[in-house]
Amino acid sequence: MTLAAPAYVFGGGDAREQHRLLAAAYDPMTLPRLAETGVDGGWRCLDVGTGGGTVAGWLAHRVGPAGAVLATDLTPVTPSVTRHDITRDPLPDNAFDLIVARLVLRHLPARDEVLGRLARALRPGGWLQVDETDTTYQPCLAAPDLALYERFLAARDAVMARSGVDGDYGRRVAALMRGAGLVGVEPVSAVEVWRAGSPGLELLAHTTVRLRDGLVAAGMTDRQLAEVRELLAHPYFRASSSVFYSVHGRRPGQGRP
Ligand SMILES: C[S@@+](CC[C@H](N)C(=O)[O-])C[C@H]1O[C@@H](n2cnc3c(N)ncnc32)[C@H](O)[C@@H]1O
Repeated sequence: MTLAAPAYVFGGGDAREQHRLLAAAYDPMTLPRLAETGVDGGWRCLDVGTGGGTVAGWLAHRVGPAGAVLATDLTPVTPSVTRHDITRDPLPDNAFDLIVARLVLRHLPARDEVLGRLARALRPGGWLQVDETDTTYQPCLAAPDLALYERFLAARDAVMARSGVDGDYGRRVAALMRGAGLVGVEPVSAVEVWRAGSPGLELLAHTTVRLRDGLVAAGMTDRQLAEVRELLAHPYFRASSSVFYSVHGRRPGQGRP
């Protein structure tokens, strides 16, 4: 008997606010990193699990009319996004100069196979950029109620784990990309201090809404979730962000200059 993979943890409901916050929190790291590849006019690109599509939109501007950007998602939110399940729908081999996948693979139990597919979909010399976090490191630094924050993170991690999310995936991406046959694998990492109003912290606060049912099933009450939102907005609250990793690798062979 084959067990079905667990459903995407953020599936269902309105994802627009989550996508807005993801772009605010992570585009400032993802886009300059993409620029480092030299992506330019005429390149053919793929943005896997594009979400709100800001990364694909930035790429489309870079590659211009001579290039092409395929933006895919399991649940497209705009008509310009192609419905495509990266775990099972066909993907052409040797097709792309650049593939980017941000905060997608961590959600997929078949993430190792998917990484192999992405590597094969690159043209010789093509770039893969995988941006992922390690959410097992995001300690609280100052707060009126430290225990509440830790309790919330533990409940969030339990909900994620039940849905097959790999919380510390980010720290393993570079080694996995080497294992998938890519060369020139180069990770960079970033950590920042979150305070009220930080996009990353707002994204975390939004999790109390997006994952409400799972968090309640994991033992939190609606009152505690409201208190978590108050805590994250408190002027004294400080926490370290999770670790963000952006990893580059290239398919061996001669690519674009
Ligand atoms: C956390 S969001 C990240 C969105 C976007 N990459 C970003 O960083 O802003 C994960 C995205 O992956 C998509 N997704 C989940 N499972 C997928 C699958 N099997 N194939 C394609 N996309 C998937 C979700 O619909 C969602 O848009």
